[in-house]
Amino acid sequence: MTPWSPGSWRSKPAAHQPSYASEADLKRAVEQLASLPPLVTPWEVELLKGQLAEAAQGKRFLLQGGDCAEQFDDCTADTITNKLKILLQMSLILVHGSNQPVIRVGRFAGQYAKPRSAEFETRDATALPSYRGDLVNRKGFTAADRVPDPQLLLRAYERSALTLNFIRALVKGGFADLHHPEYWDLDFASHSPLADEYHARAQRVVESLQFMENIVGAGSGEVHWVDFFTSHEGLHLTYEEAQTRSGPLGWYNLSTHFPWIGMRTAAPDAAHVDYFRGIRNPIGVKIGPDMTPPVLAELLERLHPNDEPGRLTLIHRFGHTRIGECLPALIAAVRSTGKTVLWCCDPMHGNTRYTGDGIKTRHFDEILGELEQAFAIHQAHGSHLGGVHFELTGEDVTECLGGARNLNDSDLKRDYRSEVDPRLNYEQSLEMSLLIARMKRRQ
Ligand code: PEP
Ligand code: CO
Repeated sequence: MTPWSPGSWRSKPAAHQPSYASEADLKRAVEQLASLPPLVTPWEVELLKGQLAEAAQGKRFLLQGGDCAEQFDDCTADTITNKLKILLQMSLILVHGSNQPVIRVGRFAGQYAKPRSAEFETRDATALPSYRGDLVNRKGFTAADRVPDPQLLLRAYERSALTLNFIRALVKGGFADLHHPEYWDLDFASHSPLADEYHARAQRVVESLQFMENIVGAGSGEVHWVDFFTSHEGLHLTYEEAQTRSGPLGWYNLSTHFPWIGMRTAAPDAAHVDYFRGIRNPIGVKIGPDMTPPVLAELLERLHPNDEPGRLTLIHRFGHTRIGECLPALIAAVRSTGKTVLWCCDPMHGNTRYTGDGIKTRHFDEILGELEQAFAIHQAHGSHLGGVHFELTGEDVTECLGGARNLNDSDLKRDYRSEVDPRLNYEQSLEMSLLIARMKRRQ
């Protein structure tokens, strides 16, 4: 293989990269970005890698979740607190349900760049370049908004830093309210046939939190037992390269703990795989229905040559109708390499559909259906599902259908906020975690 450097990807074809009008402006922004301090440290990155290695062995479980696309406007105290709250509550339910430690990884503090299937967006006969995330251009529908702006690279870095700063403060300050039952918004549960089970489980989680506080003799605000890690799609390679720093053991992307390669940019001989092969972070790769066993084997060769524990997570997203036909051959392909990976299921991206009114949505039951199959297929093939990956929010949005309240097409119009993909709302997310805990107990 050719020698690697943080910029060696530039000699390969790079998909989904914006083109900027002024090279000089881009260069100035990138130089500034490269001179600013990193957002995370190599030590934290290695800590996460060690935990992911344990998840690959079935000793931990990965919970990864957050927005499809973070937006600069959402960098507020409430939104960040709610994101942390839902991830933390889901994780406690999973810990309790499965008796296993859970690794909490947010799709946050940097999830600002999106691959788009269409170059252009058309409204009322006007076609403009697509919105590519707040890192690249602006969501407003004017020609000026859609011009890629290098200054946004700096704004995204700053928003990531502000988000992470607040997350670190919240974690350190503790979630003092967590042990109060009223902090758990369980109103939705009464609409479910599983209402009693939901209430009982949440009650037991609250009791164990109280128990823990009693034995350590401190408020949960003083117990520093919660880790959160960050992740985002490493799509915009100029941005990622600018935050790639050399540490004692090699090169790290220090804009995030856990970057992943999206499904559309995972070609083995292209730029993204080249960039990712040289960094020491644990990395994810999204794999969809078009992935073939030989290509997957080649990806492992390039990205996971030394079978380093915790290095590679495969995040599969086939859709509930396709997973049965797609996953077994890929499990076999990984097995034939003799290497260990962490398998994680993203039950969101293969289950996107449109309502009669053209609203992009996903149904709770189809998301759940893919997850149930994922657990069963891995088990049947001597493999094991070690994590889940969701698009979710701690807010009361109406973007996905179904769940205990059974949101329908007309509900979607009430509070649909996502600019890209539909997310599970607070209640749907909490319910999903109760159902996953159930599946894990059955296993
Ligand atoms: C995403 O995670 O938002 C995404 C675009 O996923 P994928 O690459 O799996 O399509
Ligand atoms: Co998405």
